[in-house]
Amino acid sequence: MTCVVSVMKSKSLRLGVNIDHVATVRQARGGQQPDVVGAAHAAIKGGADILTVHLREDRRHIQDADIHMLKRSIGIPLNLELAATSEMVNIACSLRPQACCIVPERRAEVTTEGGLDVIGLADQLKPVIEALQNKLIEVSVFLDPDNKQIKVAQELGISTVELHTGRYSLQTSKTLVNQSLNELTESANFANQLGMHVHAGHGLDYENVFGVASIEVIEELNIGHSIIAAALFEGLENAVLRMRNKLLAARE
Ligand code: PXP
Repeated sequence: MTCVVSVMKSKSLRLGVNIDHVATVRQARGGQQPDVVGAAHAAIKGGADILTVHLREDRRHIQDADIHMLKRSIGIPLNLELAATSEMVNIACSLRPQACCIVPERRAEVTTEGGLDVIGLADQLKPVIEALQNKLIEVSVFLDPDNKQIKVAQELGISTVELHTGRYSLQTSKTLVNQSLNELTESANFANQLGMHVHAGHGLDYENVFGVASIEVIEELNIGHSIIAAALFEGLENAVLRMRNKLLAARE
């Protein structure tokens, strides 16, 4: 009798490329260069599955006109990161991107610091989530690997969690890297068992991405800074392609 061994195929891993920093450079001079839509197309050529942008309340990089042009012209899903404010919800509901990731936002921060507190903000978040979902937008929340937060996100009807990999990316000793990776793996599996989709991002680069990309239940990574930094030396298309290949290697 032939014994058929079934091999569990790992899920594919999508790459969301965050192009906020292309707009950061443009805003430094206030003109049109570098072109954000052109950057989006270069990222797509390199293998981006999703385009991610954060429309911040202070408009320090991405502008309202950018998100409209991107939505019209990119032809791949747009993931809009936003704070849970009525201004942002109104913008998202009229733009109707495929996905919105709700993030905490503090004016003075350099970049998003820490995950959203869905437990403390549940009452504020409920109408925001409902308004976005009514427009058929896939809503995710950016959370630290904390199972209590993940459980409340699920109870709020959120289908997707994006795990904050910032702490993992800052670790320097092998022990702490492994500890952070274990926390991420445990939370990713917890969310998956609750029936949620799992994304991850923040601080990922060409070196540290392998560990996170190897967590099988993660379906999407959102990466910006390291790709845009590499693009200065090798071009954006190539920088995205190189990251894409890192993701593929982790799932082989
Ligand atoms: N995911 C979220 C929710 C973010 O806020 C950011 C930063 O804008 C990223 C991913 C990408 O982080 P990085 O630029 O460090 O790759």
